[in-house]
Amino acid sequence: MKNVEIHPEAVERIKKFSVTDANLGFGKYVCPIMVQAVYDKGEWQRFDLLPYASIPLDPCAKVLHYGQEIFEGMKVFRHPDDSIHMFRPEMNAKRFNFSARRMAMPELPEEQFLEACDVICAYAKNAVPRRLGESLYLRPFMIATEVGMGIKPAKQFLFVIIASPSGSYFSGDSVKVYIEREEIRSAHGGIGAAKTGGNYAASLNSYAKTIALGCDQTMWLDAFEHKYIEEMSGMNFMAVIDGEIHTPEIGDTILDGITRKSIIDIARAEGIKVNERKITIDEVLAATKEDRCVEAFLCGTAAVIAPVASFMDKDKTVVHLKEPNGKVGMRLREKLIDIQSGRAEAPKGWLYPVRNLNF
Ligand code: COI
Repeated sequence: MKNVEIHPEAVERIKKFSVTDANLGFGKYVCPIMVQAVYDKGEWQRFDLLPYASIPLDPCAKVLHYGQEIFEGMKVFRHPDDSIHMFRPEMNAKRFNFSARRMAMPELPEEQFLEACDVICAYAKNAVPRRLGESLYLRPFMIATEVGMGIKPAKQFLFVIIASPSGSYFSGDSVKVYIEREEIRSAHGGIGAAKTGGNYAASLNSYAKTIALGCDQTMWLDAFEHKYIEEMSGMNFMAVIDGEIHTPEIGDTILDGITRKSIIDIARAEGIKVNERKITIDEVLAATKEDRCVEAFLCGTAAVIAPVASFMDKDKTVVHLKEPNGKVGMRLREKLIDIQSGRAEAPKGWLYPVRNLNF
């Protein structure tokens, strides 16, 4: 494993950084440091902790034309004793490499990914928020920097980690969902399970429609029959039907959410039955109208758990959930946040303590 070279200007910059805003929002503030590493000649070169700065890119860099790019989203929490912990970062490391393989990009050894995350967290320790529900959001990403207009996998890449002290992704109200019945996000054999910019780009046209219709999030259905629920693009979906959780099973068209997995584990440990299966939107709408489905929620790293208020269909009919701040979702949300922030015992291996440096 390569050590991360610490640049003194980066240390000076982070020492002076503080955020006093009572409403951190999501991604509004970014720490003035970043980790950076170059991949060239078939291997990862040095890793550096640098002052945050623009990335110089040749206009012919392949990422700008062919979208060869992957990223991760992960959270870091301050515990009551002031220790700092990353939440399940090994899972992000594994998913990063899964995405890298799918996008013909080089893998980053898991221990190197963890080391790089640990270093930026250790230096950004004072930027890890103190209030419950807030965290330091890490955004590791990799882009193809090789210059050339030919469509072929690049041989040069840049890996970067930036860090953002963040609060809630949503402003607080429960979320209005728009059901997208025409456009699709991903198809079997495609890149839907990879965390790559293309999937998010594919969602934006429909997102604009979603917002114009007064909704907050787009729900994607399967590409073949347009009836099975997949995900929301930035979050996974769960419905509580007859007291049990139902969530689309993971396949190659859905992002394998770490928050989704954690919630399933917590729910099962709390005795709530979780069904991972194919679910049609029509089944959820029918169950909602019959009050058998009284709550539904979205889950993701940034969003944590966001309750659903309603579903809007293509013909603009709206079906409201009876409990837009449902008990099951809120209970799981509280438990997850308690575990992440060191207020409840974490299952083994879920918290990764960040080294404590004096600098
Ligand atoms: C995350 O939850 O970390 C994501 O990458 C999704 C995005 C909506 C912020």
